[in-house]
Amino acid sequence: MTLQLGSPDTECYRKLISWVSTPDELMQFAGAGFHFPLTETQLRSSIEDQTIIPFKVSDSTGSPVGYAEIHIREQSAFLCRIILGDQESRGKGYGTQLIRLLLDYVSDNINCTLVELNVYEFNKAAIRCYEKAGFSVNPAIKTVREFNGRSWTSLRMQYQPDHQNGNY
Ligand SMILES: CC(C)(COP(=O)(O)OP(=O)(O)OC[C@H]1O[C@@H](n2cnc3c(N)ncnc32)[C@H](O)[C@@H]1OP(=O)(O)O)[C@@H](O)C(=O)NCCC(=O)NCCS
Repeated sequence: MTLQLGSPDTECYRKLISWVSTPDELMQFAGAGFHFPLTETQLRSSIEDQTIIPFKVSDSTGSPVGYAEIHIREQSAFLCRIILGDQESRGKGYGTQLIRLLLDYVSDNINCTLVELNVYEFNKAAIRCYEKAGFSVNPAIKTVREFNGRSWTSLRMQYQPDHQNGNY
C-alpha cells in the first residue's frame, strides 16, 4: 500500500471517529485535548487554529486509512494525532512510511530545525515506528498525568534534520 497525504474531508472525519472506540484509545491517539466520544465538531474546531495542519492519510485509491496533524510551534514542528485506522494494517511498516511523508512535508513547507512528537511510554509499536523513521527519545523531557484510573507517562521524541547535507 502506498500512502498519500491530503486534506481531511467529512468521510475522513467519520472514519476517524469510527477508529477510536474507547476513551483510552482516544487518549493514546490524541492526548487530553478531546473528550470521548470523538465528534466531527470537536475535530473541526480543533483545526480552526491556524498553526495546526491536519492530514487525511489515504491509500492510492484515495480511501482514508489514517489521520495525522502537524502543529507548528515557535522552535519546532510537532507531529500529533497519528493513527492508522485498520488494526490489521499496523505493524507492517505503513506507520514508518507515514512519518516519512510527514517529514517530507515539513522539509518542503516549514522552516524549522527540529521535529518533535509526544508518545506514551507503553506504546511500544509507536515508539519503534518513530525510531525507524529517525526519531530518538529525549530523556530530559517526560510528563506524567492521571487518566481513567492510571498514570500515563509521555515521552518526547525528536528528529534533527541534517540540513548541512541537505538530508531531512
Ligand atoms: C502508531 C502507529 C501509527 C504506527 O504504525 P505501524 O504501521 O504500526 O508502524 P510500523 O509497522 O512502521 O512500525 C511498528 C514497529 O513496532 C513493532 N511493534 C509492534 N508491536 C510492538 C510491541 N508490542 N513491542 C515492540 N514493538 C512492537 C513492529 O514490529 C514494527 O517494528 P519492526 O518493523 O521493526 O518489526 C499505529 O500503530 C497506530 O495507528 N496505533 C494506534 C494509534 C496510536 O497509538 N498512535 C500514536 C500516537 S503517538
